[in-house]
Amino acid sequence: MKCLNEKKPESRKYQHSKYRRNMLQYSLTEQISHGCEVSNLAYDVAEKLGYSNSNCQELAVAGFLHDIGKIVLEKEIDDQPLVVEEMKIVRMHPVEGYKVVERQGYSDFISQCVLHHHENYDGSGYPDHLFGDEIPYGARILRVCDVYCALTSDRPYRKAFDPETAVKFMVEDIRNFDIQIFLAFQRVIHENNRKRVILGDLAVDERGDFK
Ligand SMILES: [Fe+2]
Repeated sequence: MKCLNEKKPESRKYQHSKYRRNMLQYSLTEQISHGCEVSNLAYDVAEKLGYSNSNCQELAVAGFLHDIGKIVLEKEIDDQPLVVEEMKIVRMHPVEGYKVVERQGYSDFISQCVLHHHENYDGSGYPDHLFGDEIPYGARILRVCDVYCALTSDRPYRKAFDPETAVKFMVEDIRNFDIQIFLAFQRVIHENNRKRVILGDLAVDERGDFK
């Protein structure tokens, strides 16, 4: 006899859509929020490092667009039920994003930032395994800001870490980051009690963007 409380097995479609969300991580709204956060933080870090206003502005654009390749890849994921295949596809998002921004006529600086925002300072990143100063400086800034913003945001599979814990994790992986950029980033977040960007409620950071 069938128990009334027995849970129905999840349909294949549901299982697939659930882990697809885990891999790609964001809804479009979440992705836009993440882009805004990375953009604002990258601007502040670049400013702290003494970069010109025009460079800071360009980096802010790159920060906003850095994960745009994920939107392209979402269609690909629908046809790929294997986790390993998904991982390969997700790791293609910097290249796909690069193609989008280049096609749209953004500057070479912005295109290179998007292409290399997952390169690690020790050469362990992707797509080109660039090492140290081979990585464009804008992409090195985005790497730090992207990791911090991701760690301090809720994900479908975990809650957000508090800023102190996030920085602690990043220090454990310090080989991934340019140390000068990391120090500038630490100064920015200590000086600036940043608030979460939530587009649905039009919450904004303390600089008043998106009011
Ligand atoms: Fe990314």
